[in-house]
Amino acid sequence: MNTNIAMKIENLEKSFGVVDSKITVIKDANFSLNKGEFVALVAPSGAGKTTLLMMLGCVLEPTSGKITIGEKIVYDDKLLVKDDRALRRKKIGFIFQNHYLIPFLNIEENITLLPYQNNESPNVVKPRVKEIMDYLNMSDKMKSMPSELSGGQNQRIAIARALANNPDIILADEPTAALDKQRAISVIKMLKQITREKNVTIIMVTHDDRLLPYCDKVLSIKDKKIDIKENKK
Ligand SMILES: Nc1ncnc2c1ncn2[C@@H]1O[C@H](COP(=O)(O)OP(=O)(O)OP(=O)(O)O)[C@@H](O)[C@H]1O
Ligand SMILES: [Mg+2]
Repeated sequence: MNTNIAMKIENLEKSFGVVDSKITVIKDANFSLNKGEFVALVAPSGAGKTTLLMMLGCVLEPTSGKITIGEKIVYDDKLLVKDDRALRRKKIGFIFQNHYLIPFLNIEENITLLPYQNNESPNVVKPRVKEIMDYLNMSDKMKSMPSELSGGQNQRIAIARALANNPDIILADEPTAALDKQRAISVIKMLKQITREKNVTIIMVTHDDRLLPYCDKVLSIKDKKIDIKENKK
């Protein structure tokens, strides 16, 4: 087995609805991504980007096919592996278009919510969160409330939160959509640096072609099929 593979997708299909009202969004998807890769996912609105991301994140059940994360099969033709929710909380981080920080919790509380939910000890979580906040240059904001930070700063906190449970994979659905060009590029550079330094695989949905040169691979959805292109180094 190739231990450098972060995720392998085989014959994946997703349809919604039944019989007459059935629509197939993703058909016969086959690809694999390596550890530490920075991957863009592009396609027109309604093509199935969020649907694909939610299946990869074990949030949405596929119709058929197989998903392997690391060395673990999480979905195999209608057999959803039972502890997939635990795996999702531990191995996968999410970043959304809007940061979705909880407004009445401070930054530190927002970031530590998931690790504590995973029953990790404060002795382990606190130093990890401090390291992440130092890394993102946000350590002076630990006690701030989300409303006291700018949109770009909150998006960096959302990245910190996605990193807080030490994930192998981060799924990001248009993480820069709410940011201006300069801040979008600074967030992208940060995400790329994370893939390199922490060996995390990041799959990022984007509508912004200017961000594609920063990525290692570009996944696109054409006529329900997934196409994968490698960017030249
Ligand atoms: N729960 C659902 N039930 C029925 N149809 C759905 C459901 N979720 C998504 N769809 C359909 O699947 C298709 C793909 O939706 P999806 O949200 O994945 O698109 P997207 O590429 O993320 O679009 P956008 O760029 O606008 O976010 C759409 O036609 C949508 O209507
Ligand atoms: Mg979407």
